Amino acid sequence: MSKFNPFNSTIFNKVVMAATGAILVLFLIGHCVGNLQVFLGRDVFNTYAHFLQSTGELLWIVRLVLLVSVLLHVITSLKLKFLNNSAKPEGYRVKSYVKSTLYSRSMIYTGIVIFLLAVYHLLHFTAHVTNPEYADFEQPYGPKLQTEALVDMGGEVVSVSAGEGIFQRHDAYQMVITGFSKWYISVVYILFVFFLGIHLVHAVQSMFQTLGWSGTTISPLLKIVSQVIGWGLFVGFSSVPIAVWIFGLGKGVYGL
Ligand code: HEM
Repeated sequence: MSKFNPFNSTIFNKVVMAATGAILVLFLIGHCVGNLQVFLGRDVFNTYAHFLQSTGELLWIVRLVLLVSVLLHVITSLKLKFLNNSAKPEGYRVKSYVKSTLYSRSMIYTGIVIFLLAVYHLLHFTAHVTNPEYADFEQPYGPKLQTEALVDMGGEVVSVSAGEGIFQRHDAYQMVITGFSKWYISVVYILFVFFLGIHLVHAVQSMFQTLGWSGTTISPLLKIVSQVIGWGLFVGFSSVPIAVWIFGLGKGVYGL
């Protein structure tokens, strides 16, 4: 008699995939709302970015949870694909697309594209690997000086003009405006969040199904919720590169 192995069970993998997907969607909603503060100007956006960076251990806990969620999400999706294929030993000669939609069939491809673009995004805005100059973008803040003076900013002595704050923080606003001022970077990000939208429209719907939330009245409603989350996040995220690239948001601040 063979022992039950949860790792080979479709339902176990689906539940892990739904739970990790839910964590990632919650992060994305928070990240999107946070990003929209770019429309409130340099001070508000940098105060928010600086606050996130100053949370220390909490930030690392969130990063760890996100990393583990992404890994488990990828592993379970591959496992489900494998379990699904091995359930059809000879493979289908004619592919039947009955009941599957363009969204559901494209999940693995949109997932791969999102993963690769998310790696680029981290190298671009978080680790500054693709653009090391972003690390030097600073904004003075805090109590303002009456006259120009030399100020010790954590070991580095810098000249601060009259009327500027005596502390320095990373100018995340300048990083976002400079990044999206280049049309090809904006296009990459718009495509990134477009694929994310397509992925989420189907993913959120199937997450609800895995959680057992289905029925003749609730299913159509949850389908609308999935569309709102997927396309809502697309509109929210893409509004930032569009505002900078097409409408020149923030460019005047840096003479771009
Ligand atoms: C146009 C859309 C986006 C913009 C403008 C944007 C902006 C940013 C910025 C400015 C940071 C760095 C914050 C800092 O270190 O000061 C950041 C970090 C991050 N973003 Fe995005 N983001 C976008 C879309 C996305 C998407 C779609 C994902 C996920 C699929 C994502 C995942 C992350 C992650 C995981 C971090 C790292 C958080 C950390 O550990 O510090 N972002 N984003």
